[in-house]
Amino acid sequence: MSTPARLTSPHSQLVSGLDAVGQAHMLNFWNALTQSQRDALTNQVESIDWAAMPRLIEQYVRNKPVFALPPDVQPAPYLPVDPDAAVRPWNRIAAKAKGEEMLRAGQVAAFVVAGGQGSRLGYEGPKGCYPAGAVTGKPLFAMFADAILGAYDRYGVHVPWYIMTSPLNHDATLEFFAAHHFFGLPRGSVNFFMQGVMPSMDLSTGKVLMCGKGEIATNPDGHGGSLRALHASGSLDDMKQRGVTAISYFQVDNPTVNLLDPVFLGLHAGAGGPGAPSSAEMSSKMIPKAYAEEKLGLFCAHGAGPRKGRVEIVEYSDLPMEMQRERLPDGRLRFLAGSIAVHVLGREFVEKLNTDAAFELPWHRAEKKIPCIDCGTGELMKPAANNGVKLERFVFDALPLCEQSVVLETDRIEEFAPIKNAEGQDSPQSSREIQTERAARWLEWCGVAVPRGAQGRPDCVLEISARTASTREELKAAGKLPRAIERGQRLAL
Ligand code: UD1
Repeated sequence: MSTPARLTSPHSQLVSGLDAVGQAHMLNFWNALTQSQRDALTNQVESIDWAAMPRLIEQYVRNKPVFALPPDVQPAPYLPVDPDAAVRPWNRIAAKAKGEEMLRAGQVAAFVVAGGQGSRLGYEGPKGCYPAGAVTGKPLFAMFADAILGAYDRYGVHVPWYIMTSPLNHDATLEFFAAHHFFGLPRGSVNFFMQGVMPSMDLSTGKVLMCGKGEIATNPDGHGGSLRALHASGSLDDMKQRGVTAISYFQVDNPTVNLLDPVFLGLHAGAGGPGAPSSAEMSSKMIPKAYAEEKLGLFCAHGAGPRKGRVEIVEYSDLPMEMQRERLPDGRLRFLAGSIAVHVLGREFVEKLNTDAAFELPWHRAEKKIPCIDCGTGELMKPAANNGVKLERFVFDALPLCEQSVVLETDRIEEFAPIKNAEGQDSPQSSREIQTERAARWLEWCGVAVPRGAQGRPDCVLEISARTASTREELKAAGKLPRAIERGQRLAL
């Protein structure tokens, strides 16, 4: 990555540097600021790569870039959930054995991106603190900690956990972990680091917005910022020292994610897949979309061009709706594979990106309502309509840079119960229902009777901690199961 050109104090240099890029309005209230406010603003200004800003503003703020689909875009091939399927069968036993070997050897790290703003949910704190357990109301972070503790019980290794925060929620996240005694995890295996931020810009002028007289309005630079932040924070070096080769990446919003799945890890490492075994650089899990308009990123492949055959996730908002509605002769959606934002990143792959001077992920533009001050009067404004642009990078834009990439199908009920919205789809309520349905299926598979209502839905609320089991086989092995669940019962195992 190229070294960003940053401005340095003293004040006169700040003024001339910002003036040169048309952003001197940020210092309009300098004389009214206390020394500590001036220092804070100076630090903020110095942390931004101003040389790059005029080009970004021209390209993404003053203009709306048109998304370029991969040439001759095709649906990406994937390994089916059933390893014995007729198309692309694979060897589950070999994949699982390899993944378990990696876990036992301490070669796997868990990595959650938790720097987002979580504005759709309307929850004040860091999203990882949200009470998500269907029965226990456990916070999301505690549910992930359970999975890591479960891996210790099974493989005898403390899997190191890396948590990416942002300036918006870093301190609150650390306080939450400290208050909960790191959920029983050894302190030395939990690592926090902050992602970068980008200034938010005025939609019509491209001027940087100020959220106070001495503060630039910023937004986290997207989960794609993690690829740079993993390196800049020293986390990649730390992983290397620990012998980590595979980084298990997941989002903070999904309480049922199987975050240390040996089958997926093994396939990523080249075991059990079709064709010659060779390790992938970045792998992904997908679920079949439930309906054409479902808001999931879509696994596509380059059908032509220099990246022919490579995988790319195209965001639901970028793939034309008529393509999303295309059907195969058997009635299935042609672009079926939706992303659940679960990946394995090769540690060496992320290192390689960070040492490549030409590496840069694209920016994505989003129009937002951003509270800010009027830089003439200093008055605070709460916009009723979108007034600003925020720029973000997406981690999955690294996929087309991979020569080898595994896409594995999984079952929605098994590992996708995200909490994104306050109500309706992907809400706390729908997540509790999926957690219960998954637990019901596992219990029934183990021979436990589960009461179901008229529409076949479980007539009870169930939650299985990932420490108890992360698969139905582990639940059976855990034993001590009831013979039946009572109607209306709330049971956490
Ligand atoms: C995301 C994916 C979508 C996928 C879906 C599955 C994007 C753009 N889209 O949608 O393809 O099908 O999840 O659930 O990601 N985050 C940060 N820092 C940031 C921004 C986000 O850490 O600067 C984290 C959030 O904390 C969260 C995750 O990234 O864990 C997802 O972010 P969000 O913007 O909510 O993506 P979705 O629209 O849910």
